[in-house]
Amino acid sequence: MVVNAPSLANIDLLEFGEKVQELYEAGIRFFHIDIMDGHYVSNLCFPTTVVRSLRQRYPDVELEVHLMVSEPRSYISQLKEYGADRVAFHLDATSFSRRLLTEIKEAGMKAGVVINPSQPIGNLSPLQDYLDYVVFMSVEPGFAGQKFLPGSMERLRELARLRQDGGHGFDIIVDGGVNYDIAEDVVRSGADIIVTNIYMVFNQPEGIAGACQRFRETLGAVKRDSVL
Ligand code: DX5
Ligand code: ZN
Repeated sequence: MVVNAPSLANIDLLEFGEKVQELYEAGIRFFHIDIMDGHYVSNLCFPTTVVRSLRQRYPDVELEVHLMVSEPRSYISQLKEYGADRVAFHLDATSFSRRLLTEIKEAGMKAGVVINPSQPIGNLSPLQDYLDYVVFMSVEPGFAGQKFLPGSMERLRELARLRQDGGHGFDIIVDGGVNYDIAEDVVRSGADIIVTNIYMVFNQPEGIAGACQRFRETLGAVKRDSVL
């Protein structure tokens, strides 16, 4: 079943601990953690220490770090020490993607790359043997709460086809603007993990527990299309 991965950047910082606990009690076992450096994107988000705090309190939650930073390599050892399970960096943040993917794996974490809306899906072909997962951006990175960009569904299917044709098993995480009008299609088109947001988990009238229940009910039985 498709995984519900709330993006913690959507939580009001003054309510952070409380909302994270609500997510946990609602059955969430996967957190999407955005780290920004103000250079790769013109915004700041969590410091790496949030990973340490989350790991200490939630030993059984998968912590996935989305690095929106210009020097991803310099974060790897600290993220490992603090307890991250997965780390992904942007394709254009390094000229040596294979080397960095290998370093992340050698550190004992799952390794991913993030592809932006303006980058050709084919850029991932040479990396397929090195990837544990791809974070597919359906918004421009940098801010939570944006709209799913037109054309993203077709690009997602292209990515899923590339995976199928290459016979690879990397996970696809869809990040940005997914809502219930399109979520079923996102799953049919190849998503394994959906980064959830103000449209699906936060700010919902039924509260976090109800919203997580709705995610399971709505998407639990949806299967990927066999012809992509
Ligand atoms: C965007 C971030 C996303 C974001 C997703 O820069 O990578 O993780 O928080 O949330 P929405 O879907 O609200 O954009
Ligand atoms: Zn993200």
